[in-house]
Amino acid sequence: MSREVKRAVFPVAGLGTRMLPMTRAVSKEMLPVADRPLVQYAVEEAVAAGITELVFVTDRSGPALKAHFGRLAELAGKTEIGPGGERLDAARALVPAEVRLVVVPQGRPLGLGHAVWCAREAVGDAPFAVVLPDDLMVPGCLADLVEVFRSQRAAGVVAVEEVPHHDTARYGIVDVGGAAGPVSPIVSLVEKPAPEDAPSNLAVVGRYVFDASIMGILESTRPGAGGEIQLTDAIAGLAASGAVYASHFRGERHDCGSRTGWLRATVALALAGAPRGDPFPRELESLLEGWRSRAGYDR
Ligand code: G1P
Repeated sequence: MSREVKRAVFPVAGLGTRMLPMTRAVSKEMLPVADRPLVQYAVEEAVAAGITELVFVTDRSGPALKAHFGRLAELAGKTEIGPGGERLDAARALVPAEVRLVVVPQGRPLGLGHAVWCAREAVGDAPFAVVLPDDLMVPGCLADLVEVFRSQRAAGVVAVEEVPHHDTARYGIVDVGGAAGPVSPIVSLVEKPAPEDAPSNLAVVGRYVFDASIMGILESTRPGAGGEIQLTDAIAGLAASGAVYASHFRGERHDCGSRTGWLRATVALALAGAPRGDPFPRELESLLEGWRSRAGYDR
C-alpha cells in the first residue's frame, strides 16, 4: 500500500458556540486571525506537507471555503498588499492549481470521530491526514508527521505536546510508557481524563496521519467521553493492531477554539508579521499601558 499522504480531512462542522456571538453567521474557521481566516493557516500547513486534496467536513461553510480558496473573479484587476509589502494579484487562487477542494456533510454532530468517518468515501483506501484548524501551529508540523508515518511504516502518527497536569480533561492524553522522545510508540490513549486518571500530561494536539484502516475502526466505535464518537478511542483501537507513534511538537500552539486563545493568536501573529516601522506594536504598548493604569497595575 502506498505510504504517500495526499489527502487531508478538516473537520469544521462545529457551531463554534464558545465563540458566540462572533460565530452566528460566520463559522469559526472563517474568523480572521491577524490577516487571514483561521482555516487558511491549516490549509497552508497541509499544502506545505504535500497534500493535494483538501476534504472539509462541514454543513454550513462549504460555499465560503470554496469562495475563499478559489480564484475570485470579482477581484480581477485589483491588487492586494502582501505581508512583506509585495503587490499581489487579489483575484488569484490561494491554493496551487493541482490542489482539489472537496466538501462533505456531517449531518449530525456526533463527535470528532464521526466527522472523520464522514470523509471515508473521499479518502478511499489511501493514507490521510486530519487537521483541526482550531489548533494553530507555529511552525506547522504536518510535514513532520507525514515523514514519521513514511519512515516508521506506521499505522498512525499523532502530534503531542506537554500540557499542565490540571488541563488533561481538555485533551486526548497519550501513554508512551516512559520518557517521551521526539518520536515515541504509543501504548494507550484516553480522551479527556481527569488529572488524577491521566496516564501522563502529553496531550494530543490537532494533527494526525492514519492509514485507511482507522475508518473501519471508527465504523464500530461507540460513543465515549461526553457521549460523542471520539477519534481518540479509534486511535486506541488502531494502536492495538499496529504501530501508532506520538510526534513531539516543539513549536508554539495557539488554541483558537477559545476566545482568549484566538485573541492571543491574533496579537502574536500580527506582531510576528509586523514589518519594520509598523505602528501596531507601539499601539499595543499604549493599549497595555492604559489598561495597567486603569486596572491599578504596577509595571
Ligand atoms: C479534540 C480531540 C482531543 C484533542 C483536541 C486537540 O478535542 O478530541 O483528543 O486533544 O481536539 O485540540 P476538542 O478540542 O474538539 O474538544
